[in-house]
Amino acid sequence: MSSARRPRVVILPDETAVARALAGRIADAIGRNPRLVLGLPTGRTPIELYRELVALHEKGRADFSQVTTFNLDEFCGLPPADAGSYRSFMDRHLLAHVNVTPGRVNFLNGAAPDADAECVRYEDAIARAGGIDLQVLGIGTNGHIGFNEPARELHARTHRVTLKPETRRSNARLFGGDPAKVPAEALSMGMATILAARRIVLVATGAAKASCIERVINGGVTTEVPASFLQLHADAELMVDESAAREL
Ligand code: F6R
Repeated sequence: MSSARRPRVVILPDETAVARALAGRIADAIGRNPRLVLGLPTGRTPIELYRELVALHEKGRADFSQVTTFNLDEFCGLPPADAGSYRSFMDRHLLAHVNVTPGRVNFLNGAAPDADAECVRYEDAIARAGGIDLQVLGIGTNGHIGFNEPARELHARTHRVTLKPETRRSNARLFGGDPAKVPAEALSMGMATILAARRIVLVATGAAKASCIERVINGGVTTEVPASFLQLHADAELMVDESAAREL
């Protein structure tokens, strides 16, 4: 698409440098706007980012007391306290270690009896918070963001998804290494929900992400690489390490 804008790309030497730089940016954004609305991913990639954010918080450089958070996605059928839930992941890696106000922490409830109503509730909660100021994203090796998997058509809004086998495999570590134990379905923010964020930073590290990062930057905008839609966003940035940038 000729009207597509390429996201800015920041290449740093390694995973630690990426995590430090992004944590610093998030802390600066909170410093400028203490009531920041932050969209957050789970996964292997942001673990070091969250460690750095906790360290900045401990040094007094990141006050989360008025920050609002929205996580991108959650497995279906798991109560929030289940050790495999994304809610538990976020508690372990970030939320239990910083001064967030519990009422400002938002998750999709994968155990909600009516998944469609839960998705509507989440969209309304994001709107009531004034929209997302800064959305942090990871990326799957197939180009997915949140649980928006490659497909002929993508969903605009928060919705229920059937997970692809490769996505269940990559989440198996949360379930004792067994992909069969990973829930078959999840709830995820949709593409329009993500793209409505005022600023987006996608983070990718490691050689396994190199080919999808190349397609996100140099390929066309296609539903087969959901992250390629970032080309249409006015303020999107990719922060990658040298391994993930090696095909650029
Ligand atoms: C999870 C999410 C996913 C991950 C992606 C990459 O909340 O949004 O899209 O960002 O699956 O996961 P890792 O970082 O484990 O490679």
